[in-house]
Amino acid sequence: MSQLKEFEKRAEVIGKCILSLIDEKKTILIIGHLDADGITSASVMGKTIQRKKGNYIIRIYSEMNSKILMEIKKGEYDFHIFCELGAGLATEIEDIFKDKWIILDHHQIPSKEQNMKQVFNIWQFNYDGSKEISAAGMAYFVAKKIDVNNTDISWLPVVAMIADRQDQGERRSVLSLNRMILDDAVKEGLVNVRRDILLYGRETKPVYMALASMNTPFIPGLSGNRDACLATLASTGLEMKQNGRWRTLADLDEDEKKKVIESIIPHLTQVETSNEDVDSLIGDVYTLEKEDEHSSLRDVREFGTLLNACGRMKHAGVGVSICLGDRNESLIESEQILKEYRKTLSQLIQMVLEDDTRIIEKNAFNMVIGDGIVDEEMLGSLASVLSGIPRFELKILLVRTTTVGHYKFSLRRPPQAGVSINLGITVKEIADQYGGNGGGHEAAAGCKIPTARLKVFLRTLNKRLQNNNENNG
Ligand code: C5P
Repeated sequence: MSQLKEFEKRAEVIGKCILSLIDEKKTILIIGHLDADGITSASVMGKTIQRKKGNYIIRIYSEMNSKILMEIKKGEYDFHIFCELGAGLATEIEDIFKDKWIILDHHQIPSKEQNMKQVFNIWQFNYDGSKEISAAGMAYFVAKKIDVNNTDISWLPVVAMIADRQDQGERRSVLSLNRMILDDAVKEGLVNVRRDILLYGRETKPVYMALASMNTPFIPGLSGNRDACLATLASTGLEMKQNGRWRTLADLDEDEKKKVIESIIPHLTQVETSNEDVDSLIGDVYTLEKEDEHSSLRDVREFGTLLNACGRMKHAGVGVSICLGDRNESLIESEQILKEYRKTLSQLIQMVLEDDTRIIEKNAFNMVIGDGIVDEEMLGSLASVLSGIPRFELKILLVRTTTVGHYKFSLRRPPQAGVSINLGITVKEIADQYGGNGGGHEAAAGCKIPTARLKVFLRTLNKRLQNNNENNG
């Protein structure tokens, strides 16, 4: 049987299991991770169960561990669906919940979980979970087995795949199983894909502000400098306002977009990697056709950020409501949360970059110390942004903060670092060795390390990364 057929067959088995739970009037707890993929995957399952008139509750967690599992057990739910968390914890989950659970995930799993029937993980089918499908995509395959009409929620996994940076094909296209899901969404008239300028905030920000907030690629003289962006764009003759309102990139016609590109190129050609950088300005842009123009939900990349903001700012429920269809109160609330999130993030970036004692450079990695100022939920977002700035792009980046009894780390492998190590696997192994826990993907991972084991953890990690660099020449 082909890997796709096997995958679809397992999705069908899981779909049937969920349908019989619904028939038996069981209450299903859906446990999602707090990022955009966790929120959307939990929502796909929730919506699917809701449509079949089943009973479900969605809870979102920033992480999963023994303590949280014991807390969940107290709720005495009939069944548990873990969405985008729980990889590596299946044995413990089985001990606690017996046969009343499944895990839907795309994080790499240890070999002992490879053949576990209640673990539905894409790595079991020889796909690469870091670029071929998200957890929401896995949930969507199950949803389609439950009811073929669920193709109308195919936009949710599209948000997840882009938010999880799986747009790793040529010109930011999506691949493999993600491509199949995207095709459904396009066929349903939910998503439009166009090759266009990759400015973040294309629906919501004035063009000059969108340009100023671009940091991948970092445009010398423009990134972070709104005044310079305004002056540069204005000098091309681009009409910046219409009827008293600032125009967004989505408002511009093709000729006007060309002017934007032409105004950026002279800035990029000042740096060595200019050809690649010019190339990276253009790519696939995914638009949610049913969302209002100029709303934060219309551009898929912005939607993902909004969901991440909700999760990271401890308002994951708002994100779930939006995914389930609320376009009233939750949407208004989420706009506020997004503002706060951006403000918090830029304050944190400024605080760590302005304080040299918070930046440590080791042979094989850079470490940013967020102790005492960075909330653990914000750590991943901070790491993702910092890993894109030139100062940190040549080595693995660790960003850390303190939690009770532990240090929490987010690790990122910037594309320019030229390192080939799988961060998720490496960090899980070392964290396990020192009484912590960890996991993730090739280029983005996280872990928690007991406070007393910090030094030995860092030493081991540095050595492992160094050995890897030497072996790879
Ligand atoms: O928290 P952060 O954004 O840094 O996590 C990066 C990636 O590592 C995410 O995909 C997250 O789900 C994963 N991760 C994990 N196990 C952990 C911590 C993070 O799988 N203990």
